[in-house]
Amino acid sequence: MEKLVIKGGSPLYGNVKISGAKNSALAMIPAALLPDSPTVLENIPEIGDIAVYIEILQNLGVKVALTGKELYIDPSSIQHGSVLSPKVGDLRASYYLMGSLLGKFHEVTIGLPGGCKLGLRPIDQHIKGFEALGAKVFLKDGFVHIQAPGLKGARIYLDVVSVGATINLMLAAVCAEGITIIENAAKDPEVIDVATLLSSMGAQIKGAGTDVVRIRGGHRLRGCRHSIIPDRIEAGTYMIAAAATRGKVKIEQVIPKHLESVSAKLREMGVHIEEDEESITVYGQDSYHSVDIKTMPYPGFPTDLQQPFTSLLTQAHGTSLITDNIYFSRFEHVSQLEKMGAAITAEGRTAIVRGVTPLTGTQVHAFDLRAGASLIIAGLIADGVTSITGFRQIQRGYERLEEKLNGLGAEVWRE
Ligand code: EPU
Repeated sequence: MEKLVIKGGSPLYGNVKISGAKNSALAMIPAALLPDSPTVLENIPEIGDIAVYIEILQNLGVKVALTGKELYIDPSSIQHGSVLSPKVGDLRASYYLMGSLLGKFHEVTIGLPGGCKLGLRPIDQHIKGFEALGAKVFLKDGFVHIQAPGLKGARIYLDVVSVGATINLMLAAVCAEGITIIENAAKDPEVIDVATLLSSMGAQIKGAGTDVVRIRGGHRLRGCRHSIIPDRIEAGTYMIAAAATRGKVKIEQVIPKHLESVSAKLREMGVHIEEDEESITVYGQDSYHSVDIKTMPYPGFPTDLQQPFTSLLTQAHGTSLITDNIYFSRFEHVSQLEKMGAAITAEGRTAIVRGVTPLTGTQVHAFDLRAGASLIIAGLIADGVTSITGFRQIQRGYERLEEKLNGLGAEVWRE
């Protein structure tokens, strides 16, 4: 089994360039099936989840070519909405094929989505929205079947703020006749990014980035060229790593506004941060105070950085509370951090971190993507060698991780 090995103890110094946003790219690939002509997505991150999505599209008969960071998608040969590839179960974001193929063909058959196991991750809000647009949804023989004689715009109130449901409903609604209004929509930058792509294709969308998104559907869509926004979660991970190792890192090709909640928490614990138009520089300090974190929908503190931040908080004086209000079971990293010497108790939705605890390298396992990121940060701080199994999980979301970390002076390799 492949392992990521880290010899800890070196502060990170230097500059690192951030890749395109995973969670934008994963929605834009299925969005590119909506028009009849080709779309080119720029700034595609080279990560495992994208490779899986490309395979799913190829299996559907779509022409796809990845050249460097440009992904060319020509959907002109796709004739139906049946997605039978078992790879669908490897990805959470495969659910976006429901919205795009429902929009295009009014009929979809697809397996259930997969992704990180973070407790129950229902898709009831996606389904409620498709039904409001006029679709019938049922589960048979392990496949979700969605059928609509015609799609008609509707007013949809989301019971929970969901990135996935907001984007999926936008994908279907751009093909529905009339106006769709999504209320209590997610305001994440990735929602805006997808709305920008759809607008470049010819769709009419207003309000993306607020909690009410209004779509006038039924416009003919044409392929376009679009550059994906930077990955704020990758950027946040390097910010946390720089602080944890007490280094100094300039994180380049970012939108600092997208990381406001993370910068605020780092400053609150004593980290010095400077921002430019497209970069953030993190100056680690010798000593940090404990802080409490509550994850919230954007622009609140992102759940995807809760686990990496936990590793940093093992180095803060006092007791920190980390409450995940998005996922109730995103604490698989806690037992692994404890193996390294951390003093953490997980109680319900909250992890209680008592610091400062020295960490010692050992053998640990990444149960999910961001748990992996938290173990990498712990390994960078730890005394001795940490080896992390489950590396495939980490590769799903971080581009050229060893190269970037080693470029900052870390000692990281694969075995
Ligand atoms: N939810 C429902 N019903 C639904 C949809 C969501 O109850 O129909 C709940 C979820 O169980 C969760 C909350 O609403 O408690 C928010 O879920 P959301 O739908 O926003 O999450 P998602 O779209 O499935 C995306 C990212 C996740 C990220 C979350 C939250 C993708 C492919 N995934 O998931 O990314 O954690 O938004 O920001 O975009 C990651 O990158 O590591 C990752 C897990």
